[in-house]
Amino acid sequence: MRALVYQGPGKKALETRPTPEIAAPTDAIVKIAKTTICGTDLHILRGDVSSCTPGRILGHEGVGVVEKVGNAVTAFRPGDRVIVSCISSCGKCDYCRKGMYSHCVNGGWILGNTIDGTQAEFVRTPFADTSLYHIPVGTDEEALVMLSDILPTGFECGVLNGKVQPGSTVAIVGSGPVGLAALLTSQFYTPAEIIMVDFDDNRLETALRFGATATINNSDGKAVEQIMKMTSGRGVDTAIEAVGISASFITCQNIVAPGGIIANIGVHGVKADLHLEKLWDRNIAITTRLVDTVTTPMLLKTVQSRKIDPKRLITHRFTFDKILDAYETFEQAAKTNALKVVIAI
Ligand SMILES: NC(=O)c1ccc[n+]([C@@H]2O[C@H](COP(=O)([O-])OP(=O)(O)OC[C@H]3O[C@@H](n4cnc5c(N)ncnc54)[C@H](O)[C@@H]3O)[C@@H](O)[C@H]2O)c1
Ligand SMILES: [Zn+2]
Ligand SMILES: [Zn+2]
Repeated sequence: MRALVYQGPGKKALETRPTPEIAAPTDAIVKIAKTTICGTDLHILRGDVSSCTPGRILGHEGVGVVEKVGNAVTAFRPGDRVIVSCISSCGKCDYCRKGMYSHCVNGGWILGNTIDGTQAEFVRTPFADTSLYHIPVGTDEEALVMLSDILPTGFECGVLNGKVQPGSTVAIVGSGPVGLAALLTSQFYTPAEIIMVDFDDNRLETALRFGATATINNSDGKAVEQIMKMTSGRGVDTAIEAVGISASFITCQNIVAPGGIIANIGVHGVKADLHLEKLWDRNIAITTRLVDTVTTPMLLKTVQSRKIDPKRLITHRFTFDKILDAYETFEQAAKTNALKVVIAI
């Protein structure tokens, strides 16, 4: 089969690889129909993710058709259409039993990281019963590619951890696919205001179309000043960090209202400053989370009932033989206006 392989920092190529086989009775083999590229794949390619070694097939998102199942798999059969979750969960360890699949001692984020991933014609998915999701008949599969990772990420790490409430004020720092996923899903709770911050006017325009009540281009570094003015000096109840650098985490610290929450989503590669000298008396909370994908079934229902349409995050489409072009388009988002690129296999 053909697969997109990480060949070490800065290097990737389409290679021919053996089709994966069932290795454990709880495995399934899924024939991938559509996959996508995540910012985390770019982190891997920069050499930032040491657990992912050269030779690994990348990708942790996708939808497809079950090809084969191991003899312990009971919830899926060949021919079933499925969403592959970015998190593999055994369903049995203490973390899984608590709903914290991201820290599953037998799984977690392994696809396209420590085991071969979804940017290939076929993928082996461990713990298929608890890591795949059935696609309801008649649902738009392309939209469901967004359910493998970014929609649960924005919702769980941003909206749920940030305790977005009816009538509350929310700021989302970073209007990339993940920040926009937080924007879409925060509207389940009807906050009064959702302020989006970025440097990219195109992404901010998208945010307005997706339901932001205000946008701020922070190129002049005045986002904090503007948000404090917009909130009459009070700040925001929920500040969602959706970038992954110290500067945006500091922005969140400067705009959180007394009693508010900073919900960090960003993957931080280096140290970020925490100004406890300013925050110790503000009664705030700071949360962090690796997406658990525990809300995937609920999010699936909201897509099915058209409460949200994650397909709006898709800006570009490619065939598999053009996956290197897809990477380039995604990497140059500022130039290409890319959000999510979908690759049909
Ligand atoms: N916690 C998790 O489980 C999890 C899962 C998936 C992704 N992530 C992380 O979420 C983050 C966002 O992902 P993405 O795909 O949307 O990334 P992205 O790089 O596409 O988007 C980030 C956006 O932030 C903007 N930005 C940069 N610096 C800024 C600043 N100082 N103030 C305001 N905006 C700024 C950029 O212009 C960009 O539009 C990444 O760090 C990613 O690795 C976390
Ligand atoms: Zn991802
Ligand atoms: Zn587990």
